[in-house]
Amino acid sequence: MLTKNPFYELPQVHTALPGPASSALFARHDAQLTGANADHEIYPLLEVGKRGYLIEDADGNTFADHMSAWGASPFGPTPPTVKAAMDAAWARHGMQISGWLPNQAAFSLVDKLTRIAPGRLSRVEYSVSGTLAVEAAVKFMREATKRPLIITFGGQYHGESTYMTAGASSDLSNVSSGRTQYVSGVVMVPYPNRFRSPFRRGPGPVDECEVLDYLDYLLIQQVHPCQVAGVMIEPVLGEGGIHAPSQRFWDRLGALCKRWGWLLCLDEVQTCMGRTGTMFAMQRWEGIDPDLLLLGKAFAAGGQPIAAVLGTDAVMAHTELHLGSTYGFAPAACAGALAGIELIEAGGVLENALALERIFKEVLEPLKAEVEQLGDVRAVGAMAALEFVVDKASNRPAPAFQYAVHHAVLRRGVVGISQRGKWHYRLQPALTMTPEVFRHSCEQIALAVREVAANPPKERIDVQDAVATAQR
Ligand SMILES: Cc1ncc(COP(=O)(O)O)c(C=O)c1O
Repeated sequence: MLTKNPFYELPQVHTALPGPASSALFARHDAQLTGANADHEIYPLLEVGKRGYLIEDADGNTFADHMSAWGASPFGPTPPTVKAAMDAAWARHGMQISGWLPNQAAFSLVDKLTRIAPGRLSRVEYSVSGTLAVEAAVKFMREATKRPLIITFGGQYHGESTYMTAGASSDLSNVSSGRTQYVSGVVMVPYPNRFRSPFRRGPGPVDECEVLDYLDYLLIQQVHPCQVAGVMIEPVLGEGGIHAPSQRFWDRLGALCKRWGWLLCLDEVQTCMGRTGTMFAMQRWEGIDPDLLLLGKAFAAGGQPIAAVLGTDAVMAHTELHLGSTYGFAPAACAGALAGIELIEAGGVLENALALERIFKEVLEPLKAEVEQLGDVRAVGAMAALEFVVDKASNRPAPAFQYAVHHAVLRRGVVGISQRGKWHYRLQPALTMTPEVFRHSCEQIALAVREVAANPPKERIDVQDAVATAQR
């Protein structure tokens, strides 16, 4: 048995969820919380701590962690080298506002970032969260081009600012309405998706470059291309369900950017620092030439919050913007981020992320032929998704099935990522999760999918009804 070593320990759930101790704590604290934070239906467990790749709840249940703090804890337990680097920076600097008071910790990280930055990226703007990095990028694009419009792709997520929630739609509209602000200046085109096209019904595969035909149409009908400052795109769609565009898509998008003088901004907040099995997701393709690239989440290496905007000289050398936030590039956060990059450079992390991709496909792809409701199995490095359908012929979304699978998986000791009303179930394990724990999790998911398929929940019929399901 492997159960002694926390890095090989397999999860065990021995109560109903939530268990009695979690329930008692929820009952006590819910009145102190905001609505969403007091909603425990999706995650019916209260964490008391983590051990290796497991989360332990108040009832002593353990779960394999496939959320990884939504990507911010890329190595599972914060690695000793990251902790030591942060401790040393704390001892030397305490807290410091790096945007006003230059310091060695921030400069060391900038040095490293400019050495690993792909393509023409050569400068670094400090930030503290993905949301703020996105906001900064929008300002850079507008300042550099003196143009107003930003093109985004539907299904993307760019954080919770009032501005860029309008440029994102990874949540179905009923979830985002009230949060989405009606701002001008954002033009949204569907994200390239080979499994499901907004332009046709029924099963794929479809030509995902048709979204660029649609963009061409928009440029003729509605948007003057010379008013577009730039394109904001996630190289792999994260919150929107793990879609990776083709080389042909990137070639065509790159050509459009060159032709019209649009800046290309890659939002790699979720995909950076090894998540896709390469340091940056863009490195999975040839010839992508960004003007801006955003870092967040895993960049913190499981340490303190930190984010960054990487940019070219042309965009950043002569800017008059001052975008930093008080906590942007705090010294200890910089030291932790630098130690995280060094850990990836030392080898093994990227290889493991790619091994997880192979295991996910190996265990779950064969299930497509067996389970009518399993429409698609997608993985890019250590980010993976299953998408469910009512039946393969119609390809209609099956949000109730997804939600039931999530709960069946939880009962089997695996915490994945599920949101109401979405059509996909996701995994975002630590890049370093041991293949044994990961394979066990995938096998539990396969069992859970079979269990739900044996007695599938009733789906409402079309997309509007899927939204209604989500309203519950
Ligand atoms: C692609 C992407 N951009 C931006 C953000 C926002 O980052 P943060 O939550 O750090 O503000 C996220 C968060 O999930 C993200 O996935």
